[in-house]
Amino acid sequence: SAAEKGGFETFMEKEIHDQPQAVADTLLGRTDAAGQLILDELRIEPEELMAVNKIIVLACGTSAYAGMVAKYAIEHWCRIPVEVELSHEFRYRDPIIDPTTLVVSISQSGETMDTLMAVRYAKEQGARTVAICNTNGSTIPRESDAVLYTHAGPEIAVASTKAFLAQITAAYLLGLYLAQLNKKLFSGQIKDILADLAAIPKKIEDILERKQQIKDLARSMKDDTSVLFLGRNVGYPVAMEGALKLKELAYIHAEGFAAGELKHGPIALIDEGQPVFVVMPSPMDRHSLHAKVVSNIQEVRARGARTFVVAERGDTAVEAYAENVFEVPETQPMLMPLLTTVPLQIFALELSSAKGYDVDQPRNLAKSVTVE
Ligand code: G6P
Repeated sequence: SAAEKGGFETFMEKEIHDQPQAVADTLLGRTDAAGQLILDELRIEPEELMAVNKIIVLACGTSAYAGMVAKYAIEHWCRIPVEVELSHEFRYRDPIIDPTTLVVSISQSGETMDTLMAVRYAKEQGARTVAICNTNGSTIPRESDAVLYTHAGPEIAVASTKAFLAQITAAYLLGLYLAQLNKKLFSGQIKDILADLAAIPKKIEDILERKQQIKDLARSMKDDTSVLFLGRNVGYPVAMEGALKLKELAYIHAEGFAAGELKHGPIALIDEGQPVFVVMPSPMDRHSLHAKVVSNIQEVRARGARTFVVAERGDTAVEAYAENVFEVPETQPMLMPLLTTVPLQIFALELSSAKGYDVDQPRNLAKSVTVE
């Protein structure tokens, strides 16, 4: 009913608008008065967590892109190697696991059979298992040693939105907690990152208030049959997620690439009029990736692409090369996916509805895939 959808036309639109709350609720109650992270629910002894020397993140679909963001954050903050693998690939390749391996599964539903089977397999091999999950009491958290719940609330639309941002938020918390335990970051640094995380919900609202810009763009593109997405560093999984959303909802060819890979193949796809979305790194990124991605925009433009750029507010370097720039508020580079994902979700929703498709129940897909 309309009431269940909070006055929005579709669950997906409601859930996109629930995102400030989903992030805020996932952060809630996870710090003490002194600003220290407390993840009591992790029920794995600190000594055991401190002995972890490898992390394997297992997930499918959108949740696997949250896992890719987790890799960038945890390796940077904790200096622990992180592998991210699709659950259904993991089990059948003789992965190397021992009791110092921490397996982190990410699942909105907690019922995805591929991920459940991978977690069971990891346990049999002796790994400790943590579930990042949005559904209380579901099977994957029940079978894991520990659980870190995302508090996005029930997600009804088949295409995941608010659960994704909550998963990324939970992954940051896990990374910061491990960094705190292992003293890889100073407590002041952890507090600064937590303060920047706490400021994210308002920044998502700022994006939602300007959604008309993306709506107009989507309507103008309803006859396009292929859209490419480029991103780099934490923007790479965002590009992949932007493309997945278009496949799921608009049924058109869409692909996400690491921007650095462009010259190794994908650039051959570019011809006159090809739409390309570019997820810009922060101009403050410590590796100066910004300039490299500006060059990528110039390269695809020179071959006829139409470029649509998601960039940090005040990033004027991109204006000259973009047909359309959507600005997101500033935050630290590692946290940008919580902002840059949102316009891509709105774009997929609007393109799907412009084409007259069922946004909440896309063809051929299920919300929870309980078969292998
Ligand atoms: C299905 C859904 C996707 C979801 C994936 C993983 O394929 O259609 O939206 O990302 O499952 O689901 P999970 O519940 O494990 O996060």
